Amino acid sequence: MTDLQVEYLGLHLRSPLVASAGPYTGDLDRMAELEQSGAAAIVLPSLFEEQIEHETSEIDRLYSLHRDSFGEASSFLPEIDGYNTGTDAYLALVEAAKYRVDVPIIASLNGTNLGGWLRYAKFLEDAGADAIELNLYTVAADPAVRGASIEAQQLELVALIAEEVSLPVAVKISPFYSSLAAFLLALQDAGAAGVVMFNRFYAPDLDMETLDVKPRISLSNQAELRLPLRWIGIAREFLTISIAGSTGVHTGRDAAKLILGGADVAMSTSALLFHGTGHLATMETELRDWMSEHGYQSVSEMRGAVSRDAVADPAAYERANYIGNITSYTSRFLGSSSIGLQHK
Ligand SMILES: Cc1cc2nc3c(=O)[nH]c(=O)nc-3n(C[C@H](O)[C@H](O)[C@H](O)COP(=O)(O)O)c2cc1C
Repeated sequence: MTDLQVEYLGLHLRSPLVASAGPYTGDLDRMAELEQSGAAAIVLPSLFEEQIEHETSEIDRLYSLHRDSFGEASSFLPEIDGYNTGTDAYLALVEAAKYRVDVPIIASLNGTNLGGWLRYAKFLEDAGADAIELNLYTVAADPAVRGASIEAQQLELVALIAEEVSLPVAVKISPFYSSLAAFLLALQDAGAAGVVMFNRFYAPDLDMETLDVKPRISLSNQAELRLPLRWIGIAREFLTISIAGSTGVHTGRDAAKLILGGADVAMSTSALLFHGTGHLATMETELRDWMSEHGYQSVSEMRGAVSRDAVADPAAYERANYIGNITSYTSRFLGSSSIGLQHK
């Protein structure tokens, strides 16, 4: 029997297949189904910085409104006493999830600014979360702000949260950093216990009739696995913290690829939305089958077997592969003599 057990963020998991944040992971019945079909851990949907800050300022507003009208009687006002915040609902979800399933529950915070919202990390710990995933989802659209200052702020944020809680903190990032390798190392130095590679950005679309800019979510496909695969293969060489692969993991073989590249766990959301929560069981069978066919007894044996520092041609993970790829592709369609760049 193949041994699927892994360590992720210091947590002992039965397998490397994790349900990443998405609609199913915010519903208790679906969480139970995910556990049933083999999810080794569940990442809850994110609690957003804006949500926390909005609710905090809303409470402040209500307080000041009533203080103006009623003076010291403000603390008795039902609007405030009965104010049921989304943040409270989130903490209740963490508690209920811990009660409902046995697998580790990873709570998720999404934000990039330094501010009062950070104290929610502690509340998540108190609610029973096993780890925190911090999603640094930001679109760097202000031309006055340079990349270095964005990165410095994000690293400060990670350090503050890591100090605030005794839980392990994983950081979910996008691939869009000018020196991703340096940023990954800086995250490790800032106290991250792991990195999730990668977040998937949703780009808006245009409605060609109304000319409205429409937010559109489209689910991932397997070709998108290549980006995390490349970067996990590169990062495994210099990161000692946990690595989760996310984006494009639709089958057990996809998970196997990321593990071979150096990931500790592989996460799925789109595949579960396409095929249902039971798909994790299929993925586990596929992973086991691939491992037996290729002589691997355990996931730990596989991990990093094909990372950049383990392969004969490390350049395959880097730019050197680019010219070879485009010339061989082009010559398949046009014949080898039709372009100036010849594949040697
Ligand atoms: C409908 C939907 C909701 C999502 N919600 C969250 C979220 O709340 N927090 C988060 O960090 N990621 C969220 N994600 C991103 C996923 O966790 C995952 O990183 C991304 O979809 C890429 O993985 P995939 O290819 O397996 O879908 C969401 C994705 C989808 C499709």
